[in-house]
Amino acid sequence: VTLNRPSHPVPADPAVHPAWLPEAAFAPLGSRRVALVLDDASPVADTVRAEVTAALAAHGGAAVEAAEAADVVLALRPADAAPQFQSDGDLDPEAFTYARAGGVVTVTASDARGLLYGLFHLVRLGERAFTGADVVERHAPHTPLRMLDHWDNIAVHPVMGQVERGYAGGSIFYEAGVVREDLTRVAQYARLLAASGVNRVAINNVNVGPAETRLLDDLLPDVARIAAAFRPYGITTHLSVSWASPVRLGGLATSDPFDAGVQEWWAGAADRVWAAIPDFGGFVIKADSEGQPGPFAYGRTHADGANMLAAAVAPHGGLIHWRAFVYNHEQDWRDRRTDRAKAAFEHFAPYDGTFADNVIVQIKHGPLDFQVREATSPAIAAMPRTRVAPEFQVTTEYLGHQKHAVYLGRMWSQLLAFPYWGQDGDGSRSGRTMADVAAGRHPLGDGTRVGGLAAVSNVGDDVFWTGHPFAQANLYAWGRLAWDPTADPIAILDEWIALTFPGATALVRETLHAILDQSWETYEMYTAPLGVCFMVQPGSHYGPSPDGYEYSPWGTYHFADRDGVGVDRTRATGSGYTGQYPAPWSDVYESLDTCPDELLLFFHHVPYSHVLHSGKTVVQHVYDTHFEGLERVLEAARRWTEAQDAFPADVAERVTERFAEQVRSATDWRDVVNTYFLRHSGVADAHGRTIY
Ligand code: GCU
Repeated sequence: VTLNRPSHPVPADPAVHPAWLPEAAFAPLGSRRVALVLDDASPVADTVRAEVTAALAAHGGAAVEAAEAADVVLALRPADAAPQFQSDGDLDPEAFTYARAGGVVTVTASDARGLLYGLFHLVRLGERAFTGADVVERHAPHTPLRMLDHWDNIAVHPVMGQVERGYAGGSIFYEAGVVREDLTRVAQYARLLAASGVNRVAINNVNVGPAETRLLDDLLPDVARIAAAFRPYGITTHLSVSWASPVRLGGLATSDPFDAGVQEWWAGAADRVWAAIPDFGGFVIKADSEGQPGPFAYGRTHADGANMLAAAVAPHGGLIHWRAFVYNHEQDWRDRRTDRAKAAFEHFAPYDGTFADNVIVQIKHGPLDFQVREATSPAIAAMPRTRVAPEFQVTTEYLGHQKHAVYLGRMWSQLLAFPYWGQDGDGSRSGRTMADVAAGRHPLGDGTRVGGLAAVSNVGDDVFWTGHPFAQANLYAWGRLAWDPTADPIAILDEWIALTFPGATALVRETLHAILDQSWETYEMYTAPLGVCFMVQPGSHYGPSPDGYEYSPWGTYHFADRDGVGVDRTRATGSGYTGQYPAPWSDVYESLDTCPDELLLFFHHVPYSHVLHSGKTVVQHVYDTHFEGLERVLEAARRWTEAQDAFPADVAERVTERFAEQVRSATDWRDVVNTYFLRHSGVADAHGRTIY
């Protein structure tokens, strides 16, 4: 029984907002007598020691040697553990058991990683961890791969900047064309991620430029430094790689996956990476997508490409996250047969069962691109014999750029719970969700194809990490839902509030709930209606532009004219996209009678006079939601103004500034969209409100 001194301190930069790990959050644990039973020299074990030591030092508790004298015992599961600690679940290195008996709390795990998660579980529970009736709870993550992808560039991109779709300043990894010397901030980030449940990070943009290609080469020692900052918190580092690397770095004439020289080059690259970073995770790749190079140039398929890379990393236990975001971005808008929504399914489903064991096909949650409301991607359900990782976007590219207060926990939770085979259809399939598929529980699979969950990070070098301080809640919720997709997103928001604003008064809690609980729907109300997508400014994707992507090579998203609006994706008269869904959705979406209102214009082209299930016409719905959406924003801003003095001054100042912009932007959205529909339809608002 030892409490060794840790070899490194808890990483902290006092100039940076502590997010959900302020020192005060450790008071309940740090003021008690803690016994650490941890005969383990791993970096994560050292972190557990460091966390406990720091908490005790800050809050006056004591490290005790004998478990009998402790209020809290944190222990690697000893060989002679009581039977309740010896279930199969505990074989998961990330699992832990939390037990409270006779006032003593015990956290046990079979691995230091599980113990670290158990420690953060205690922090999350706060005083509640130590009070109440006896309990024994086993906690384990839903999937072993819970990943964040950074779209960070080393070289500042002339249009996209340092972080593509980043709304929180520069990169925490890179600055001025090099990897930062001081990675304290990265270590602090690792700590926040571990406390939310994330365990993998890809550190560079999926659009890999010449500078970023070098991460595989001469910048490898820098990658090793970043991996060293993540490792103590149980986080594995991955890299995005360019398909053209053998040409760019190796000087080869080709990157054909069937070329022996190319295969050899990748095997050599993998050898070098794992020699530098023995616990490296693997490669993420965006190939043949939006101009990125890929195997198509050589007449090869995505499976050919993925499997070649998979062979190169397999000897090291590495993974290939191969992205399915593949579509024709050079369409002729005149050609009504092309439907971008169909692309991922068409490119990947035919290859189900041919991907190597260490390939994970990473598929955006919707068939288009992280819109405020789009259908769930049918490609996710189409590959029972493939490891699949649904991809989400924590950064709010289409949801207000972290200038608008938009909490996404409820949106993600709904998507993860989407029952691809219905709730009460064929008994063997009904009830299986997107989250089930991610965990390898596809109803037609054999249960061995365990995928994962991935998301694009929203973090930058901003003092609040995320631009809008409330956007921290999205990062937190992402990790918590990746750990447990069935968790209640409002309870997660509550956790975030309690941790981030220690001692939060009822006013603080109620204000945050009033602003955030329904904020996703509010954003939907004042932006694009009923599943219409991309009514945004092209390029930036911020602010309204109803025709921004009409007549565009990137796709066409609503076909509004004087008579009606929406994309006909039916089998009967449209693009046939509905046929990519399993029953019952293939029929539910096909029929105007059963298609849910919120997705109506995603699946159907209808006249403005079409009556929704709600009883309103489409055009009146547009007007009503846009007026009400702005009203809701104004109400949120009013609640904020009333309560802002109850928040820390730095948070208050930033949030006040963001609300001013949200109100301005939401007003713009209301008026531009309403005016657009009035001019197109000629139908006046039933309530005679001002439309320009
Ligand atoms: C969107 C986004 C791009 C990004 C791409 C992707 O198109 O606008 O910035 O590169 O998604 O996911 O690869």
